[in-house]
Amino acid sequence: MLTRRKFVQTVGAGAAGALTGSWIGARGREGSLWDLAPTLDAAQAMRVIPLSSNENPLGPGKVVLDAVQRAFGPAGATPGRYSSATGELRDVLSTYLNVRPENLTLGCGSTQILRTATHVYTERTKALVGTIPTYEESAGYAAMLGRPVRAVALDRDFRMDLDKLADASRGAGMVFYCNPNNPVATYVGAQATRDFIARVHRISPETTILVDEAYFEYVTHADHATMIPVALEDPRVVVARTFSKAYGMAGLRLGYGVGHPDAIRRMSQWDSGSGTSSLNVLALHAGIAAIGQGAAFVDAERARNTAVRNFTVKWFADRGMKSTDSHTNFIFVNTGMLAKQFRDGCAAKGVRVGRDFPPFEHAWCRISLGTMDEMKRAVAVFGEVLGKAGVIAAA
Ligand SMILES: Cc1ncc(COP(=O)(O)O)c(C=O)c1O
Repeated sequence: MLTRRKFVQTVGAGAAGALTGSWIGARGREGSLWDLAPTLDAAQAMRVIPLSSNENPLGPGKVVLDAVQRAFGPAGATPGRYSSATGELRDVLSTYLNVRPENLTLGCGSTQILRTATHVYTERTKALVGTIPTYEESAGYAAMLGRPVRAVALDRDFRMDLDKLADASRGAGMVFYCNPNNPVATYVGAQATRDFIARVHRISPETTILVDEAYFEYVTHADHATMIPVALEDPRVVVARTFSKAYGMAGLRLGYGVGHPDAIRRMSQWDSGSGTSSLNVLALHAGIAAIGQGAAFVDAERARNTAVRNFTVKWFADRGMKSTDSHTNFIFVNTGMLAKQFRDGCAAKGVRVGRDFPPFEHAWCRISLGTMDEMKRAVAVFGEVLGKAGVIAAA
């Protein structure tokens, strides 16, 4: 079996070459600072409102930070040892998700899960299929590996077009099913998703569907449910989850994949036993504490985000600007201005918003949601940049 380590040794030079390509370099990395306005001085940069990377503006919270602190142990002993906390996190997650440890694989962020699945389930003759736009990690990784990528357009409401996606899945290695979908923020209901999975497997029995549930906790749709039960039964479905969003741990880097033991085994064989080698002991302890906060934490975080989302969507709607139906901690809004022009205008006034998302960069911008206080300050800047500070749409 070719493991990830052997693969890196074998193709390292080629992969490094591909990585220097500007397209790969610019693809969907959240959280990078490359779009910080160069005109800001250091003090201004400290005050920037960061609304470009879909993070939780509150961060991990005290319970989690205390756990990280404790993980240092006496005289920093714990970080000096290879971690033994992997098993504990797997146990905690298993209980939380009502699955068995063999249904889980851990990763350095869900990025690692996405890459591993892309590597294992696509081939030079078996394409990756996804929407355009969507979160680009899988597509970028597939392209780097020389695997074909098939992209299908969204429907008129910026939702995944399930007919087009199912058609394109014929003979594909993997469908990247990002739900809710980044950057457009829309969600496809649980029953429609289950039907889609069944349909793909009728049309194309060997295709794996990777359901990316990165923003799962923020969904407020009436028909909302995880695809984990489907994945547990069907080795051709894998669910990816992350601690980066609702749990506020983007910088700590922790994610996981859930699936049938056969699917998890296949991914783990490639990625040296559940990604243990890429895991950081501080993140593991943070993850255990984060899950320990229970459902009440997630409910409160969802309610906080929903209030901020409603406020921000309404601010734009009151001024005649339409947003998609967001089920995430960001919105996708038609400002009517070139995304770059809007972004640069905002950056010059200390608000960082999302990058271009072709084919919608002519008018649409992705804005991550900060705290309510940050958004109240941000909309004042949006109003100035758009020349619509006090303009209210006609009823
Ligand atoms: C849809 C989606 N999936 C996966 C990720 C990767 O997140 P992480 O590697 O931090 O878990 C992101 C990051 O923004 C995302 O938007």
